[in-house]
Formats: sequence, structure tokens, C-alpha cells
Amino acid sequence: MFNNCTFVTGAQMQLSDKPTLSLAPMMDYTDRHMRYLIRLMSQHALLYTEMVTTGAILHGNRALFLKYHPLEHPLALQLGGSDPTDLAAVSRIANDQGFDEINLNIGCPSDRVQKGRFGACLMAEPELVAECIHAMQKHCQIPVTVKTRIGIDDHDSYAFLTHFIDTVAATGCNTFIIHARKAWLQGLSPKENRTVPPLSYDSVYDLKKDYPHLNIQINGGIQKHEQIQEHLKHVDGVMLGRVAVNHPYLFAEIDQRYFNVNKAMVSREEILNKYIDYAEKELQEGAPLRHLTKPLLGLYKGQPGARKWRQVLSQAFPPTLGLEIIQQALAAQKSAITKLVEL
Ligand SMILES: Cc1cc2nc3c(=O)[nH]c(=O)nc-3n(C[C@H](O)[C@H](O)[C@H](O)COP(=O)(O)O)c2cc1C
Repeated sequence: MFNNCTFVTGAQMQLSDKPTLSLAPMMDYTDRHMRYLIRLMSQHALLYTEMVTTGAILHGNRALFLKYHPLEHPLALQLGGSDPTDLAAVSRIANDQGFDEINLNIGCPSDRVQKGRFGACLMAEPELVAECIHAMQKHCQIPVTVKTRIGIDDHDSYAFLTHFIDTVAATGCNTFIIHARKAWLQGLSPKENRTVPPLSYDSVYDLKKDYPHLNIQINGGIQKHEQIQEHLKHVDGVMLGRVAVNHPYLFAEIDQRYFNVNKAMVSREEILNKYIDYAEKELQEGAPLRHLTKPLLGLYKGQPGARKWRQVLSQAFPPTLGLEIIQQALAAQKSAITKLVEL
């Protein structure tokens, strides 16, 4: 039992005067290509992998699941699991592989994840989570962090949340990323669980007030820099999920706005040129074209010609097409601007 006792092992996240701005873990999206693209926009954002299960790493194609580009640092590996021994083994592997942080997923409500007894359902088992975190900390030197919700099902009181935080923080884990809505474990799809339960940013702000020594980061429904700036008055960090898919260029302002970087924002075309160099090498090594073009789909969001850009880029079907599709999409976007000007 980890209640009422304090274990402090392993590395802790430093509480610093700089906020954490991060790319959320997103299955089927935050693969290494999307992370590389985001890194071209911000040197300071912390990037999370998609959730990887302990089983996938211990018994599957480990090299594939853990592959990343050296430029991706700082990079956190998100794990799904609830077996302390397996989590400890994988933490050692992740540590040796050079990740900067390991994060345990206590927020995913999918049926598949619940069947494996991990994700959001573990909010009901804080002692087990503490045991897992403790085992992980013992086997790595990098910070072990937790991403969770504000509650599950009818367990949605602030007292339920603080009992969870108290129990897990007793291990020495000092960083919690909180998706500011609860999850319904039955009856809602994962997608609905990201929109239907209402957001309660105040619960996360209250956590920071009550646990000033912990690093509390907020997540959920954050779309604009004005919102990020407001949240940072209350918490230590902001994690961005769907906006990174729909409008990744938002990340291009992060270094200047939050890290006092005193240089011009990188333009979309500079990003594209660098990304194409990367994609050429990846394509030669066998990466599928559509995996490489997918992270680019939202790049022109809000700009004239954005629809044309997406339309052309969505047609990236090999073998008839290669990376020239990116130039074609750019030409289509530009011609849409010209047409607008002519009108
Ligand atoms: C397609 C998709 C996949 C996701 N996969 C994961 C995941 O692997 N691990 C996780 O902790 N959260 C996952 N999430 C949840 C996000 O990390 C985030 O908590 C959620 O989308 C709310 O943040 P947002 O409103 O900024 O998108 C996923 C979300 C989406 C949209």
C-alpha cells in the first residue's frame, strides 16, 4: 500500500520557471513523422509518442515502436499497462533507448484498454498505479509522469481526484497532466469521451493551488494561444492534442511566446522544405507515403487555399505518386490564393 507513505526514487521532473508546452499522445497521429514536423516548428515543445503497450514492447516489434529521430528530443514515451514488473522492464528499455520521460496512461477509456486493465479505469485503483510508478522509477533515471482525467463514471468528486493524486504522488511522482474532463467507462466511445463530459478547468487549477509543489499540466479543448496564456496563469503546463492535427502551425509560435526565443517564426514554406528533405530519406527507407503526408494536412489551416491543399495532399496514393504530391498541393494552394486575388 502506498497511502500515507512517501517513496522518492528515480528522477523527478524539475519544477522550473519555464512552462511545459507539449504535443499530446494521440494514437494513429503522433507517430515519429508528426513529431518530426512539430519539432521543425518548436525546439522547446515536449513531444509525446502514441501510447504503446508494455506487451507491444516486450513481445512485439520493439525497434519499430521505439524508433525516433534524434531531433525529436525532448521526447516522452507514453505507456499503457498495469503490471508493475512489465512496466519496470519497459521503463529500463525506454531509459536505455534515450527517451527523456516516461508517461503512464491513466486516461484512455476504450474497451480494448479496459479489457487490458489499464488506461482510465486505473483511476479506481490508485494503489496499483502507485505500485506501477514506483516499480518504473526504480528501473530508470528519467522522470516518470502520469496523464489522467479528473474522474471516471460517478467517481467525479474533487476528493476522488485528490485521493488519486495523494496516493500516486507519495511515490515521488511529481508531474501530472490532467485532461480536464472525466471519462465514462461504459456507453461512450473514446471520441465521445473527448467531447461529451464537460470540461472543468477549475478542478485542475484547484489541484495546482492545493499541491503547489507538484507540476500540474492541463489538457483538453485548448485551441489558441490566448487560451494557453490564460491557463499558464494557473498551472505549470499546457498539453495540446487535436489542435496539433487540425492546425499544427500553432506550434510555430511556441518558442517565441513562452520561451523568450528572439528570432523570427519559421514560415510554412521553410518547414515544408525541411520536411521534404526528411520525407525523401524516409520514403527511401520504406515509410509509406501517406504516413508522411498525413501530418501535413492541417498545415495551411485558416489560410486561403487550405481546402485545395488538403484535397490534393489527400490523394497521395503510391505507386503513381511520390513526394511531388507536396509540391502539387502547394501549387494548388497558391493558385487558389491567386484566384481569390483576381475575384
Ligand atoms: C485520435 C486521438 C488519439 C488519442 N490517443 C491517445 C493516447 O494514445 N494516449 C493518451 O493518453 N491520450 C490519447 N488521446 C487523448 C489526447 O491525448 C488528449 O488528452 C485529448 O484529445 C484532449 O486534448 P485536446 O482537446 O487538446 O485534443 C487521443 C486523442 C485523439 C484525438
